[in-house]
Amino acid sequence: MRILFLTHAFNSLTQRLFIELSASGHQVSVEFDINDAVTREAVALLRPHLIVAPYLRRAIPESIWREHVCLIVHPGVVGDRGPSALDWAILDDVPDWGVTLLQAEADMDAGPVWAAETFAMRPAMKSSLYRNEVTEAAVRAVFTAIERLPDYLAGRWQPQAQTLKPMHPVMRQAERAIDWLNDDTLRVLAKIRCSDGFPGVRDTLFGQPCHLFNARPFDLSGAAGEMIGRSGEGVVRATVDGAVWLGHVKRIDNGIKLPAMLACPEAAALPELADSSPDITYREASRIGYLSFDFYNGAMGTTACELLLAAYQSALLRPTRIIVLLGGADFFSNGLDLNRIEAADSASDESWRNINAMDDLCQAIIGTESHLTISALRGNAGAGGAFLALAADYVWARRGVVLNPHYKNMGNLHGSEFWSYLLPRRVGAAAAKEIMRRRLPMGALEAEKQGFLDACFGDDSAAFEREVALRAGSIADCADFSERLAVKRQRRAADEAVKPLAIYRAEELQQMRRNFFGFDPSYHIARHNFVAKTPHSWTPRHLAIHRELGWTP
Ligand code: COA
Repeated sequence: MRILFLTHAFNSLTQRLFIELSASGHQVSVEFDINDAVTREAVALLRPHLIVAPYLRRAIPESIWREHVCLIVHPGVVGDRGPSALDWAILDDVPDWGVTLLQAEADMDAGPVWAAETFAMRPAMKSSLYRNEVTEAAVRAVFTAIERLPDYLAGRWQPQAQTLKPMHPVMRQAERAIDWLNDDTLRVLAKIRCSDGFPGVRDTLFGQPCHLFNARPFDLSGAAGEMIGRSGEGVVRATVDGAVWLGHVKRIDNGIKLPAMLACPEAAALPELADSSPDITYREASRIGYLSFDFYNGAMGTTACELLLAAYQSALLRPTRIIVLLGGADFFSNGLDLNRIEAADSASDESWRNINAMDDLCQAIIGTESHLTISALRGNAGAGGAFLALAADYVWARRGVVLNPHYKNMGNLHGSEFWSYLLPRRVGAAAAKEIMRRRLPMGALEAEKQGFLDACFGDDSAAFEREVALRAGSIADCADFSERLAVKRQRRAADEAVKPLAIYRAEELQQMRRNFFGFDPSYHIARHNFVAKTPHSWTPRHLAIHRELGWTP
């Protein structure tokens, strides 16, 4: 089938649906919802059998929904209506929630239901629920709807009319606002969680108007509303019955989401408290060291890379056989921290420092002789973060993981992280070139077929982690462990003899230097637009295949 995605952005859910539907043999093309004329043009060019709106912020023009089946992914249960569905579900502390696939009609979210899925809620950030439960439910619902389409077209099946509840209005800052003198910790957390990602909770820190993101409970108390300390890169603020750790802040005056300590230099004067939930953690079991690095949004700034390298080097000193790099729960890694770079005095210098710190880390993993290493991707990985994963000897991923192993979307960035060594040796030179050129997301199954990954398994993170432990355990316990280690060393030595790692690094960094310091400002413009979330003014050609020259339906 030809399927048109009409979407506000090619976000994680849209990417996952794109991967799943393409893998099932459908031809999927994407058009960003920029204006009605562009939408009409896309429909005329593609002549789709089905239109799916995975993430839409505006209504579909009537001339289109009257002529075509248009299915809207609504992140709410049947009967729920409104643009802040998930936000309200979190704030109202509902135990279960869902995703409904609605047919577009004149009234918003009022069309008949093609498919619906439910899931249990977890105390998590909205963005985490969206990337996990909502995305999995949306994939199931879209596949159910597609199965129903032939019966619908033959008049054998009709979508179910909804019993509509009143429209849940858009959640305003007034509802999100924290009343520090009255809200208890759970309420404060609910308000920040339901606003995470976007738009955050409007508040004031050190007299600066800002938005708050990324919070967790902190075991301390103080006078309600008082800033009582700093911990890691966040600040700790007392509630009426405890305290919360506030990780990220977007100041109104610069609009960049940053760790609270960076956004608010005044916080340096606060007393330092123990870091109760550090980004980097290490544990051991059965001769295996597990290194987790849960950096917010998977962004790895210079200091994060340096700390992770130090943690990795300490792990190498342990009497273990295997090191498993677990990344974070939601993201394995998304490469350089573009927000910190954007906020730096010199974005070029900070980019350079960051990529060098990232390369140092990758080089240490590639050059490890004492252990076998495994990258176990619980969450998605993009750009340099995807190549960081390839630095390990084995690369495994959860089945639902989405990879974006390319750099060009960031203003034609060349990329480093030894990708020019790591990628071709896994998938071959031709496929490596194609992956970089296509700049499309890749599902874990496809990545396994291509050799980018060694294996993908596990329907959810818990199942994945259990299986990782079993598989890593059997490698650690295998009779030929020493031979495996020897083979690894020989292979590395042979590769080094053909072309030293230092040469790969120098070649990549020479191109990166041009990206950062050269005349062409594309990377700086793209990074600025990414951080500022500048709306798209057109759909990139590699997504809108109906706009490719010579394309025929
Ligand atoms: N630095 C800083 N923030 C990053 C980031 C990075 N490298 N990668 C992602 N983020 C942030 C996004 O700004 C977004 O922030 P929000 O909390 O304000 O919503 C959040 O992480 C989720 O990212 P989003 O783009 O919405 O996720 P996605 O799943 O739709 O897309 C990627 C995933 C990887 C394709 C996309 O995030 C991306 O292109 N990231 C940049 C990768 C990159 O070029 N890195 C630098 C070169 S190594």
